[in-house]
Amino acid sequence: MKNKLLIIGASGHGKVVADIALKMNKWHKMAFLDDDESIESAMGIKVIGKSSDAFTYINDYDIFTAIGNNEIREKFQSRLETAGASIPVLIHPDAVLGEQVGLKTGTVVMPGVVINCCTRIGKGCIINTGATIDHDSVIEDYVHISPGAHLAGTVRIGKGSWIGVGSMVSNDIFIVSGCMVGAGAVVVRDITEVGTYVGVPARMA
Ligand SMILES: CC(C)(COP(=O)(O)OP(=O)(O)OC[C@H]1O[C@@H](n2cnc3c(N)ncnc32)[C@H](O)[C@@H]1OP(=O)(O)O)[C@@H](O)C(=O)NCCC(=O)NCCS
Repeated sequence: MKNKLLIIGASGHGKVVADIALKMNKWHKMAFLDDDESIESAMGIKVIGKSSDAFTYINDYDIFTAIGNNEIREKFQSRLETAGASIPVLIHPDAVLGEQVGLKTGTVVMPGVVINCCTRIGKGCIINTGATIDHDSVIEDYVHISPGAHLAGTVRIGKGSWIGVGSMVSNDIFIVSGCMVGAGAVVVRDITEVGTYVGVPARMA
């Protein structure tokens, strides 16, 4: 771990990520990278370059990819990993994590989240505000669990899937990689075919 943190992305998601990092109180200095030249700073934290500049900062900064899109986040984080970057896990102090919860690099856990015991979260995941994930679940790499989504126990979410705001996933459910579960959907059957699912019960849109 280094004593400076560089956050790629200074938009809404990047700001929430910065807020969590500030509350963790582990880094003496923070900066953003963003490709939008009109953004000079966010939350009083300077934008010091574009996303492609990240590689020049690898020796001095921990680097966190704060990009909401799962595929783009994976692309950036994978390139940073290959280049040997130090990539932290960010956990808001007001998140509740059970025993034997594992979290891999580049994952952010936002305020009000509850992750119950024995759940494994992959790398580059977003566990967004107030989401809950119950016991023995597996969240694969680059998944986004949106604000207020609730996942019951022993759920498995495949790589890169996006679980929408306020949705629910019943216990023992499997959702294949690359899916979109819409806002407010209730998933009560396994989803084995890639697609967008909405409604109660959730069906392919
Ligand atoms: C499911 C979703 C991806 C569809 O987006 P889209 O492809 O742009 O779809 P549209 O908005 O064009 O809607 C298409 C149709 O699906 C319906 N629909 C869209 N989202 C729906 C949802 N969540 N539940 C039920 N119906 C939905 C629309 O009403 C519309 O119906 P109509 O054709 O009868 O008018 C999107 O609506 C959604 O739920 N996104 C989740 C956002 C989220 O979780 N954000 C969190 C950010 S941190």
